Amino acid sequence: MKIEVIEKNRVLFNSSKKNFEIHPLWLRERANNSNLVDQLTEQRIYDPSTLDKSIKIKKANLKEDSLNIEFTDGISSKFKISELCKELDSEKMKKGPVEEKILWDAKLNYRPTSKFNKDFESKDTFEMLKQFYKYGFVIITKVPTKDNYIVNFANSLGAIRPTNFGVFFNVKSIPNYNDLAYTPRHLYPHTDNPYRKPVPCIQLLHCIENQVSGGLSTLVDGFAVANYLKKNFRESFDILTTTKVRFRFIDKDVILENWGELIELDENKNIKHIRFNTKVDYVPHLHKENLEKFYSARKKMGELCCSKNFEIKFKLMPGDLLMMDNYRTLHGRTAYDASEGMRHLQGCYIDYDSSEGKLLHLIRKFE
Ligand code: OGA
Ligand code: ZN
Repeated sequence: MKIEVIEKNRVLFNSSKKNFEIHPLWLRERANNSNLVDQLTEQRIYDPSTLDKSIKIKKANLKEDSLNIEFTDGISSKFKISELCKELDSEKMKKGPVEEKILWDAKLNYRPTSKFNKDFESKDTFEMLKQFYKYGFVIITKVPTKDNYIVNFANSLGAIRPTNFGVFFNVKSIPNYNDLAYTPRHLYPHTDNPYRKPVPCIQLLHCIENQVSGGLSTLVDGFAVANYLKKNFRESFDILTTTKVRFRFIDKDVILENWGELIELDENKNIKHIRFNTKVDYVPHLHKENLEKFYSARKKMGELCCSKNFEIKFKLMPGDLLMMDNYRTLHGRTAYDASEGMRHLQGCYIDYDSSEGKLLHLIRKFE
């Protein structure tokens, strides 16, 4: 990947995938001289739409890691070649902060784990977030269990997302529950709160006490399951990626509803968002044939999620905090007997911009 200057005023970008001339206006918009861009915030102080559309490069040259340009409107500016290349590499730009997602199934013999460090600017936090982005989950051990510490934890990454369950919620067996999570029942692998707008991005579950023999946590990589369906059960994959389903939550105070595909694809047909929650989904009444296809596809997906091939199971111990990508992984738990003792988790949600913003900041700090 490199930047080249030809004929003294044409700037080219060359990589193994793409070769093109960089538009002068695109470069001019990136000129960061102090009279154009506020040096503290890196924000433009002028309206770039006022620039002359036919602006040209008068002179350009490369010197060490800089590209120097004089534009026809009299502005001269210096550009860092590495930064231009990073932005022009469209594949890399789209991928987000971490190189590759590592899809996993039940053969995953490594549990992405990180030791708690109360300094959220530390290398430990950096490593923890990288694991989270690769695997879609990470378990942070020895997180303080007193004083609702989960709120501190979440707010140190970014900002907590309060819901009608509160700023955070206590997951234990209680008499007047408004969700099956607050009973000792088995919970099938699920996306949390697919009925919210938008669906919460990241879920934290922090184990405070766990004295029961059941209540094991389960986790599935929904992207891996969706890929498997795509390869082996194409018809099921197709109906799940094209049928919008209604999700609904109801209690005495509120009714929440949102619609979406069980497997949502992005504009390039990549898997983007899994919504799987058989407690609260309501497929509309489609044509008989499509409805039957949908039911068998959802069944197949549910079977895969609960299967020995895809589901991992582990016991959360006091202090363990499970951080999961609620658009990718599905979580659940086995049933437990509440008379054996206390099982108490605390949960909350955060949005991607919190954790991603922190990760980008730590990449800037450590790399
Ligand atoms: C939840 C949930 C799992 C558990 O509260 O969303 O799925 O282990 N809990 O209790
Ligand atoms: Zn849940």
